[in-house]
Amino acid sequence: MRIADLESVIRIEYQVFENPWPIEAFTEDIVHDAFVLTDHDVVFAYIFCMVVLDECSIMNIAVAPDHQRRGFGEILFKNITSILALREVNVYFLDVRQSNKAAQNLYNKLGFRAIAIRKGYYNHPDEDAIVMTLLISEAAGSYEKL
Ligand SMILES: CC(C)(COP(=O)(O)OP(=O)(O)OC[C@H]1O[C@@H](n2cnc3c(N)ncnc32)[C@H](O)[C@@H]1OP(=O)(O)O)[C@@H](O)C(=O)NCCC(=O)NCCS
Repeated sequence: MRIADLESVIRIEYQVFENPWPIEAFTEDIVHDAFVLTDHDVVFAYIFCMVVLDECSIMNIAVAPDHQRRGFGEILFKNITSILALREVNVYFLDVRQSNKAAQNLYNKLGFRAIAIRKGYYNHPDEDAIVMTLLISEAAGSYEKL
């Protein structure tokens, strides 16, 4: 993601989320470890990651409404794991709204597993979060699967 992409990213964010990130959250700093999918330079999907050592937290992911259900969410995430594998990232964490079945289906398909509930994590509307994790076993690094 480039700083110039933020305008398109914000447009998608406000189309797809009932409670989008505030505009101020889209700073120059967050484009680091963030990625977009584009078609002729037009952004239609994005992901924000936070990488610490060999762990990646997925902070946000979205596909523009007119590009959804065409496999791009899956492609976006798989590309991220390939890119971050070069930095030996092998464990992923994310939070998802309990009502967001589309996203949960995507994460389940990618191999994520639910590990906990964060009570009252979201607001507007108030909702619990499901915490999900994915361990990339081929590069398990300092982790071992139980
Ligand atoms: C969640 C989201 C990123 C999925 O992106 P997408 O490009 O539409 O997903 P894909 O086409 O790659 O679908 C991959 C899998 O996800 C699941 N999925 C995606 N959309 C779904 C829907 N509307 N209903 C049910 N399952 C869905 C399916 O399991 C699908 O596999 P299948 O096509 O073999 O059934 C997209 O719906 C989105 O941007 N939603 C709004 C923002 C959001 O909720 N982000 C997640 C925050 S935690």
